[in-house]
Amino acid sequence: MTRLGRLMPLIALGLMGPVHAWAQGAAPRMNAQEYEGWRQYSVQCARCHGQDVLGNPVAADLLKSAGPGGPMAEQQAFVAVVKAGRPDRGMPGLAKVLTDEQVDAIYAYVKGRADGKLPAGRPERPRS
Ligand code: HEC
Repeated sequence: MTRLGRLMPLIALGLMGPVHAWAQGAAPRMNAQEYEGWRQYSVQCARCHGQDVLGNPVAADLLKSAGPGGPMAEQQAFVAVVKAGRPDRGMPGLAKVLTDEQVDAIYAYVKGRADGKLPAGRPERPRS
């Protein structure tokens, strides 16, 4: 057996680790509503509040706002701000852009992130 031949199984084993971790899917799983929320959030909110709700100095940190004990933890408060905005402070009102279902979906996604239930990253498309 050549030297390389003897090394092959070791090389294969070395490669299998990372490939295996990747195949197990780093992509987060979400239900259909959370997935829709992630989509809408990424288009409408992320440029100010940060991709994956990870924050951005220009706007409120929604992981804190919607987290336990935060001022936006309740759906009603969150939905009201998203629809009406705070135009004088840089938060646009999105009532004309988003349907009620889309706002509810964004809440489900952001709340899941804030409660530590949903991980960051591009989710897998849920099977319907
Ligand atoms: C153009 C930038 C911008 C966009 C786009 C934007 N926001 Fe904001 N948002 C802000 C700013 C700035 C604030 C802080 C306003 C303040 O100081 O009261 C804010 C505040 C908020 C708050 C209140 C947080 C708190 O603790 O008081 C919520 C909830 C919120 N945004 C949700 C969203 C969601 C959900 C979207 C997408 C549908 C979105 N925002 C899109 C800029 C933005």
